[in-house]
Amino acid sequence: MSRIAYVNGRYAPHRDAAVHIEDRGYQFADAVYEVIAIQNGRFVDEEPHLDRLDRSLRELRMAAPVARPALKHILRETVRRNRVRDGIVYMQISRGVARRDHAFPAHRESSLVVTARSTTPKSAARAGGVAVVTTEDIRWKRCDLKTVGLLPNVLAKQMAAEAGAYEAWMIGADGAITECTSANAWIVTDTREAVTRPPTHAILNGITRRTVRAIAEEAGYSVVERSFTLDEALAAAEAFLTSTTSHVMPVVRIDGAPIGDGRPGPLTCALQAQYEAYAGAAEAGTTAAGGA
Ligand code: PDD
Repeated sequence: MSRIAYVNGRYAPHRDAAVHIEDRGYQFADAVYEVIAIQNGRFVDEEPHLDRLDRSLRELRMAAPVARPALKHILRETVRRNRVRDGIVYMQISRGVARRDHAFPAHRESSLVVTARSTTPKSAARAGGVAVVTTEDIRWKRCDLKTVGLLPNVLAKQMAAEAGAYEAWMIGADGAITECTSANAWIVTDTREAVTRPPTHAILNGITRRTVRAIAEEAGYSVVERSFTLDEALAAAEAFLTSTTSHVMPVVRIDGAPIGDGRPGPLTCALQAQYEAYAGAAEAGTTAAGGA
């Protein structure tokens, strides 16, 4: 089946879909994006993802290309045309096409691109957990905005791939772990506290992170938002990462050293199972604890 993409008002075969060479997303990375999972034909945490998209647009003074109901229609139509029942829908909004000049163009005509494809959650194929390596976080100071300016993340992920690792955990200027290149980082302490960094400008406030937090608290586990160092992570009982495409992924090695007994930990596995149940059952626009 040939894939279909949505580009600025029309649906086109994926191989022919293109944006203008002077699109500001292409020239300046002047663009934001979101990725939403589709499971059993339903969108997982759609509203929080669209809220975060609106926030990214607002903070960057970028115009929404269409209103939310129209965007939701385009997302569904793209998912339908690509016959995605389990997968992801990707949307990217740039500040539009204009003659190359760093300052904003006078017009406010954002570009919108939407694609969708079938995938299975990465955690399903890696029951034994994954290895991560660490690297310096060389990103800018607004990592809370989901922009397509991902070169530091690309370089760090490539470094991880070349080291045979699944992800890179990045270490910020304060010496603490910030997050992964495309996921949030967590550890579990000896006292069974799940620890993850607070959502400041230093990290992307992951939607999966927020849902997992709500699920954990609802189940009576203690969640603490604070920074943690590499040394603390190496001494932790368990570690995991969370994202739209990885769900809850056990981390069993950091920089080659085993975490705990080198196998996915019990709290990680419990949260993973509960998140799977939640995502598989998610209704469009609902969240774990009514607005996580
Ligand atoms: N990545 N941190 C970063 C830097 C990310 O890029 C992502 C998501 C996350 C997790 O956020 P969420 O739980 O909302 O997916 C954290 C997406 C999936 C991507 O770039 O494809």
